[in-house]
Amino acid sequence: MRYVLGVLAIAVLAVGISLYWVGRPTPVPATPPPPIPTSVLDQLPKERKGQVLIYGAYGFTGKGISQLASEYGITPVLAGRNESKLKPLADSLGYDYVVLPLDNNHDNLVKVLKHFEIVLHIAGPYTYTAKPMLDAVVEAGTHYVDLTGENHVIQAELDRDEEFKRANIMVMPAVGYDVVPTDCLNMYVADKISQPTQLTVVLNGNYTAAEGAQASRGTMKSGLEMLGRPLLKRENGKMVAMAKPELIHRKENGQEQTLLQIPWADMITSYVSIGIPNIEVFQVQDGELPTWLLRVAQSDAGRRVLGWLIDNFAPEGPPPGAQENRQTRIVSTVSNEAGATASAALITPEGYLLTFHSTLIIARRVIDGQWEPGFQTVAKVYGPDLVLEVPGVSRTDL
Ligand SMILES: NC(=O)c1ccc[n+]([C@@H]2O[C@H](COP(=O)([O-])OP(=O)(O)OC[C@H]3O[C@@H](n4cnc5c(N)ncnc54)[C@H](OP(=O)(O)O)[C@@H]3O)[C@@H](O)[C@H]2O)c1
Repeated sequence: MRYVLGVLAIAVLAVGISLYWVGRPTPVPATPPPPIPTSVLDQLPKERKGQVLIYGAYGFTGKGISQLASEYGITPVLAGRNESKLKPLADSLGYDYVVLPLDNNHDNLVKVLKHFEIVLHIAGPYTYTAKPMLDAVVEAGTHYVDLTGENHVIQAELDRDEEFKRANIMVMPAVGYDVVPTDCLNMYVADKISQPTQLTVVLNGNYTAAEGAQASRGTMKSGLEMLGRPLLKRENGKMVAMAKPELIHRKENGQEQTLLQIPWADMITSYVSIGIPNIEVFQVQDGELPTWLLRVAQSDAGRRVLGWLIDNFAPEGPPPGAQENRQTRIVSTVSNEAGATASAALITPEGYLLTFHSTLIIARRVIDGQWEPGFQTVAKVYGPDLVLEVPGVSRTDL
């Protein structure tokens, strides 16, 4: 028996070490890639006005945005680090492309970005991808939007506000499902009462058709980056760590419902947009994350193994059809010290579909000249009604 247990322990250890090894991050090249050939630069747009670069174009979300770009009158150039994934997409859509690694490639990134008015940065987890792109846009003078929901990344972007202003560029994070609908809805309800002090947001991602409620690999891996960090909430204007997420059990339309507190980016973005000092975000839960998963995600090695498993075994994103069938519902409620409250709800299309549209709506605004220098949030620059431009979004006062 002891022998069998010993063999089992060794086998488990061996599998663990192999998974850790295969899941380790690709080392950043010690020497930068060679300068990008002039022949490649010569094919990029000569005049940057109106020109859009989509970086991470062949990921699940990048592909959706690239496929929809023409509906917004945008003819993008597609970019990413892997030519074998990039070229077929660019060829199928009839767009130019440029192969451009992010890591240790600053000079080439700057040379390419100088040909574009804005980059839609769709490669994540942003924990690893945001900084090299931001360093390059500052030098190139190119506007930047991304889809990060990783709070530590958004905070790091906010901390560089002055630098972005000096470069006269707009850096706007989270232009997807996280956080366009909530940021806009939060501003809409906040305008209904004077001096709101508390904001509570409830997201129901499976409002209709729970079938196919899946995240993309990039979303799952970005989520892992959040799980590995302390859970924070906005309290009295500060981000404070919580020992564990709050759980609320309630009845909604006669049905038992559990709400789980989540670290949605509103805690930073809506604080910037509206300045409400207490912000909490909850998600209607289908099930609970197993505690072993939370424990594994606390360590770098654990996240690498989980990331490897996601890359190799998780589906690319929601299955076909899910985007047409699903809707989400978001309810935001504000209150103030005088006891006044206001609530409103948004119905939105499925989150990825919303993201494809919202990213392009904002890109279109930027190339039409509507942008503000520095770190910016969606509702602060474009107002609470921007989200209503996304097809399928409706808003109701409660
Ligand atoms: N805020 C929102 O509502 C929202 C909505 C959708 C997506 N997102 C976020 O957007 C990101 C992309 O999502 P996705 O669904 O497209 O994921 P995905 O299908 O996994 O695609 C990820 C993309 O990022 C690229 N990438 C990753 N690391 C890179 C690096 N170090 N250098 C260069 N390229 C790198 C990948 O290229 P390789 O294949 O070459 O690795 C791929 O093109 C994720 O962070 C996700 O959380 C947010």
